[in-house]
Amino acid sequence: MRKKLVVANWKMHGNLSTNEALIKAYLERLSALSGVDVVACVPYPYLFQAQQLLKDTNIAWGAQNISKDEVGAFTGEVSTLMLKDFGARYVIIGHSERATAYCESDENIATKFIQAQKHGITPILCVGETLIEREAGVMQMVVAKQLDTIINTYGASVFAQAVVSYEPIWAIGTGLAASGEQAQSMHEFIRNKIAEQDMKAAQSLKILYGGSVNPQNAVQLFVMQDIDGGLIGKCSLNAKDFADICDAAAHSNVNAQ
Ligand code: PGA
Repeated sequence: MRKKLVVANWKMHGNLSTNEALIKAYLERLSALSGVDVVACVPYPYLFQAQQLLKDTNIAWGAQNISKDEVGAFTGEVSTLMLKDFGARYVIIGHSERATAYCESDENIATKFIQAQKHGITPILCVGETLIEREAGVMQMVVAKQLDTIINTYGASVFAQAVVSYEPIWAIGTGLAASGEQAQSMHEFIRNKIAEQDMKAAQSLKILYGGSVNPQNAVQLFVMQDIDGGLIGKCSLNAKDFADICDAAAHSNVNAQ
């Protein structure tokens, strides 16, 4: 039913020459792989380079943020239409590294989500709790609130054309991934929450897991019923690791038709 999706989040890494080598190494390892959709979300200045190297391949590209506004006097911002100009098909929205460092509110994130969809770019909405919130047992409440801002403003049906990435903040870049069971339990919660209002959207929604995914833990995560792939930070900068993760996704495609 749902094809697996693996998204590379390069964050603020790379330059023209390392990017070229990395993309070529991705292509060498991944161009024959089917059963999984692969996306590279690159820093803005390298969108043109990604377009040049990835067009007509089986790897799509995208960005890591967008402006909530469409056009205008917003110094330093980049609009969805600009991403479209470079053939981007995906954009990461509300990553915790942005939400905390740049004080992004849930309202801003919701506006960006809709802005992306309006122009045919698939938003990858990041949600997740801190360690303190998990230890206090309020992780579902936290994630529900992050989703509610969008659901209450735009309705649950908008999730039919979106990706959600569950990213426990304590797992990002720490080497301490959630277990398959921990992640599955939150993914199921997210899908049920959308299903309460829109069953069809819930069934087609891809819910990725992000946070210290590596080739060793990828399989135990991707076999879970509601885990439809991953958002990969550190390991996406190593072509072999990234390809191994994509391979694990392709071969654990329990939900695919
Ligand atoms: P990580 O990053 O794989 O390096 O933990 C994941 C993310 O931030 O999406």
